[in-house]
Amino acid sequence: MQDARIVDIGSGLGRLATGLLAELPDVHYLGIDANEQFVHWCREHIEKLHPNFRFVHLDVANDLYNPGGTIAGGELRLPVDDASIDAANLWGVFTNMVPEHVRAYVAEIARILRPQGRCFLTAFAEDDVPEVTFNPSDYVPYRCTLPLTVVRYSKQWLFSTFQQHGLQLEEFRYHGTMFPKQSEIYLIKADTRLGQ
Ligand SMILES: C[S@@+](CC[C@H](N)C(=O)[O-])C[C@H]1O[C@@H](n2cnc3c(N)ncnc32)[C@H](O)[C@@H]1O
Repeated sequence: MQDARIVDIGSGLGRLATGLLAELPDVHYLGIDANEQFVHWCREHIEKLHPNFRFVHLDVANDLYNPGGTIAGGELRLPVDDASIDAANLWGVFTNMVPEHVRAYVAEIARILRPQGRCFLTAFAEDDVPEVTFNPSDYVPYRCTLPLTVVRYSKQWLFSTFQQHGLQLEEFRYHGTMFPKQSEIYLIKADTRLGQ
């Protein structure tokens, strides 16, 4: 655990990195974000002091966080070796992402996780809804005035996307309290060597 390799996609302003520094300061952490300013801030305030915590900017287009981005979903490639990562984290990322990019990220997560590596992510996911709905009305207790404020998926679409890439669902639960509609999703990469 102390020397685990962790990738944090949508690392924002280093919330996970800050917690890891307090609890597991020796892990190898890579934060990836589409917002260049966030990455710059994390490099200045975290990476410079803790070189095992690195941050990279990936110029993926996102109408909310990086509208001028140049990388489209199909071209997405994370700067990480195959099967080299113990855990991937995406808190509040698929919640604001178009399906083409979710699909591309799921494929990349499956590629970079080692067999039986874990992925934790949050999403707006429900039964009996269309595959994807942008800013659904009467869903969250706040106004969705900006593009991609809320992207809600059907559980069926999301879970089958995970399954197609060999990511098995371990647990699904609603986050409750602060973000009642946001769900926590725990995945494990199938170990094909074990036939699992
Ligand atoms: C709601 S914030 C969450 C930040 C962080 N995970 C946290 O929990 O504090 C979403 C983050 O995802 C990033 N993001 C959005 N689309 C992205 C993409 N396609 N690739 C990488 N990061 C992305 C945004 O720039 C933003 O920092």
